[in-house]
Order: sequence, then C-alpha cells, then structure tokens
Amino acid sequence: MKPFFIGNIEIKLPIIQGGMGIGVSLSGLASAVANEGGIGVISCAGLGLIHPKTPGDFWGNSIWGLKEELRRAREKTSGVIGVNIMVALTNFSDMVRTCIAEKVDIIFAGAGLPLDLPSYLNPESKTKLAPIISSSRAAQLICTKWKSRYNYLPDAIVVEGPKAGGHLGFKREEINDDHFALEQIVPEVIKVADSYKDEKQIPVIAAGGIYSGMDIRRFLNMGAAGVQMGSIFVTTEECDASIVFKNTYIKAKEQDMRIIQSPVGMPGRAIDGAFIRDVETGARRPKACPFHCIKTCDYSKAPYCISQALYQAAKGNLGKGFVFAGLNAYLAEKINSVKEVIMKLKTDFSASN
Ligand SMILES: Cc1cc2nc3c(=O)[nH]c(=O)nc-3n(C[C@H](O)[C@H](O)[C@H](O)COP(=O)(O)O)c2cc1C
Repeated sequence: MKPFFIGNIEIKLPIIQGGMGIGVSLSGLASAVANEGGIGVISCAGLGLIHPKTPGDFWGNSIWGLKEELRRAREKTSGVIGVNIMVALTNFSDMVRTCIAEKVDIIFAGAGLPLDLPSYLNPESKTKLAPIISSSRAAQLICTKWKSRYNYLPDAIVVEGPKAGGHLGFKREEINDDHFALEQIVPEVIKVADSYKDEKQIPVIAAGGIYSGMDIRRFLNMGAAGVQMGSIFVTTEECDASIVFKNTYIKAKEQDMRIIQSPVGMPGRAIDGAFIRDVETGARRPKACPFHCIKTCDYSKAPYCISQALYQAAKGNLGKGFVFAGLNAYLAEKINSVKEVIMKLKTDFSASN
C-alpha cells in the first residue's frame, strides 16, 4: 500500500479510521491507528455526554471533552490525528473552532454539506479540511462553492457509499440500487477532483463496506488515494466502546444487518436488536430533549433521543440503545489489536495482487 499526501501531511499507510460516535472512536482507537501510520479519527459527536465535567453544561463540556481527547491522543502518538464533525451538530462551529485552535491535522466533516467550513480558517491555520460526501454532485458543489466563496479547495474528499455504518447520505430506495454503489461513485468523484489538478491535488478516499485487503486493492486500483474503514476497527482492543458493543458485532449474522430511519432524518445502518424493534412497534415514547444537539432532529416527534441511544449502546446498555455498523460488520470473528488488524490487511492486500 502506497503512502499519499494530504497537503503537506504524509499519510504513510493509506487507511483512515472513520470517526465513530458516540464514544466509539476516541483517543484510544485513534492513537492506535495513527501509530500504525494511518489516520486515527476522534468522533466529536456527544463529547459533552462522555465528558460531563461541569454538570448541565453540554456545550462547554463538549469543547473540554474534545481538548481532553486530543491531549490523550497526543500523549500516545505522534502520528496523524483527525476529528470527525457532523455538519448536523448544533455545536458544529464550536467543534471546528476548537480543532483549528488545537491545530488538529485534519477535519472530516459529513452528515450534511460543510459549505462554510473554510470560513473558520485563519492565515496561521494548519488544519486540513476533508468533506465526506456520497455523490459526485455534492463533491462538485463543495468544490465550486469553496472556490468561489473562499478561494479554497478541499484537501481531500471522502466518498462514502451505501454499505457504510451509521447515518447514510442516501435515500432509502437508493441504498440497494447499483447506480449508487461505491464502485460507481468513486470514479465519478475522482473525475471531479481531477478537474482541479492544475490548482490542487485532491486525494479521494473511498469508504463504506471495505473490510479486506482485497477490497482496499480494488478501490486503490480505481484511483482512490486511500480508504476509510470504520466497522473493522470496532472489534479491536483499543476501540473506545465497551466489550458488550464489540461483542454485538462478533455475534451478528448477515441477516441482522439492517437499515433504520434515524430521528436525524437520514437512514442509518445498524445491527438489529430489541431497542430497534421496540421503536418500530411504537413501544418507545418521546424523551426529553435536554440540549437539542442535532439541527435536523425533530425532537418533538422523535421516538427516542439518538444521542442517548448511541451513547448508552457504546457503554454496553443495549436495553437503552442500538449499535450502528457497516454492512460487513458481521464478518468480525474476534477481538484483535489494531496492529493485528492492519497486519492482516497488509498481508491480504499483498496476496490479492
Ligand atoms: C458505530 C459507527 C458510528 C459511526 N459514527 C459516525 C459519525 O459520528 N460521523 C460520521 O461521519 N460517520 C460515522 N460513521 C461512519 C464511519 O466513519 C465510516 O465512514 C463507515 O463506517 C465506513 O464503513 P464501514 O463501517 O463499512 O467500514 C460511523 C460508523 C459506525 C460503524
């Protein structure tokens, strides 16, 4: 696997660990991946729940929590650390400003179009900006708007297909339609990126359902500079979620992988369980919304609080939440170290030549 550059940052191993909220990818997982030469990514969704430093101050706690996770990650690695920020978060601005002030290597911004992201940069900023999109149309829109408004082009683009875990940037009926398959959209996004090559090299990173060395080779052969992988890193010793969460992946069968409609207004991919079935049968009643954390969440109608549900699941309270996972997450057989996972990917990659 060849290294690549995001601006002046060398990514020695072209594997990006996808940001996973809430509390699934924090400093533990991110630093372990960064130590292997990939990009480790801290998810900043729900950091105010994970770090309740000042009771009642979700917003302040989120900023403090992000700084704390970055401090812990930097204690463990000198590798490349990114932060994943969902555009739909109501504290998107706080999180972006904190990342830039803390000189985070790279921001990955998805779950919405980060059209104003470059406006947060200042002349001293070191942080690179990578939108996460699910179509060439979105990639083109971001490039056009960023260039005309800020004279800035993305430093990398992550293209996430419908086999990914978590919230998906597709309509429900598009998820199983081959026209929207990752194999289809990666070359289209590369074409958009290539159209700017005289001004800037924009590496394209493929994500969603990539689970083996052979998968990695397929997307690198298509012209992707790297891949983003989420699910495969959940079943590692260093993943920040509880063992109960990790074991849900190991126990899951192919038929357990399913699509849910999230209160955020997007479909999501998850592992079936009692919580999800209760929601579908109407057994869950709306809960109080203490901090309205997601812009697109209609909390007056939502049957549950998605932040609490994801946080509880990551802590292992599966009666109170559910587990997001990519389509291939059921392939997990046991818990390994991040080093072992990456060694196997490298071996399989070489063997698939
Ligand atoms: C448990 C879980 C939580 C996730 N949370 C986020 C998130 O907070 N923000 C985001 O942009 N993507 C999120 N994702 C998507 C991942 O970053 C990654 O792109 C995706 O999982 C790649 O697909 P894979 O799991 O098949 O490798 C999540 C995925 C999982 C499995």
